Amino acid sequence: MEKIKVKEIFNNVYSVDFGDGLKRIATKSLVPGKRVYGEKLVYSDSIEYRVWNPNKSKLGAAIINGLKKMPIKKGTKVLYLGASAGTTPSHVADIAENSLVYALEFAPRIMREFIDSCNERKNLIPVLGDANRPQDYSNIVEKVDVIFEDVAQPNQAEILVKNARWFLKENGYAMISIKARSVDVTKNPREIFAEQKKILIEGGFEIVDEINIEPFEKDHMMMVGIWNETKY
Ligand SMILES: C[S@@+](CC[C@H](N)C(=O)[O-])C[C@H]1O[C@@H](n2cnc3c(N)ncnc32)[C@H](O)[C@@H]1O
Repeated sequence: MEKIKVKEIFNNVYSVDFGDGLKRIATKSLVPGKRVYGEKLVYSDSIEYRVWNPNKSKLGAAIINGLKKMPIKKGTKVLYLGASAGTTPSHVADIAENSLVYALEFAPRIMREFIDSCNERKNLIPVLGDANRPQDYSNIVEKVDVIFEDVAQPNQAEILVKNARWFLKENGYAMISIKARSVDVTKNPREIFAEQKKILIEGGFEIVDEINIEPFEKDHMMMVGIWNETKY
C-alpha cells in the first residue's frame, strides 16, 4: 500500500502527499470501494480517500489554484446546477456529509449516466430539469446553503441569480464556474468575466473570491458570492 500524508485543508477536503512534490487533493469517500470516474483510491489510517482530478473538475482546479473561500462543508445543503455524469457532484456530496446535494441536469442521456455512477451516494439527489426554469423543480428542491453552478451557457450569471431567488438562504453562498467561450467567443475573456460579475452583483451577490482555473481549463473563472438579496 502507498505511504501517503493526508492533511485537511478545508472542512472535509484534504491535501494528499505521495512524496513526489505534486499537489493533490482528495475527499473522504462516503461509498468506500466505489469509483465514479476512474479516480485513484488511497488509504490513510484505514480511511479511504478519492483523489480529486483537477483536469476533470473545475472545483478541484479552483482548490488546487488557491481558492480562499470554500463554503461547502460537512452538513451544507447544496443545489448543484449542471451535474453532468457526476464527477464533481460526487466530491461535493463527500464534502457535504450528513446533508443533501440536489444535482440538476437537463440532458436525459447524461442523467442516466449520472444515476448509474452515483446511485449508491445516498445524499446525492438527481433532479432532471432545466436550470432556466427553477419553478419546474421547486417541488423537489428545498432552501439551500450553497448553490454551485457549472452549466456553460451564455446566460450563466442570470441562471444563478434566478435560482438564488428561489432556493438560496439569506447570506447563503454561490460558486459559479464561468466559461468565457460559452458567453461570447469573439470577446476578450476578461471583459466577459467583468460583465458576468456585474450581473451577479446587480442580482444580489457580493463577490468574495475569484480564481482563474488555468491551466486546467482555458478561459474559465470560478467566482464565489454571498447572497444578500434584500440589500438590492
Ligand atoms: C461542463 S458540464 C458540467 C460538469 C460537472 N459540473 C462536473 O464538473 O462534473 C455542464 C453540464 O451542464 C448541463 N446543462 C447545461 N445547461 C443546463 C441547463 N440549462 N439546465 C441543466 N443542466 C444544464 C449540460 O448538459 C452538462 O452536462
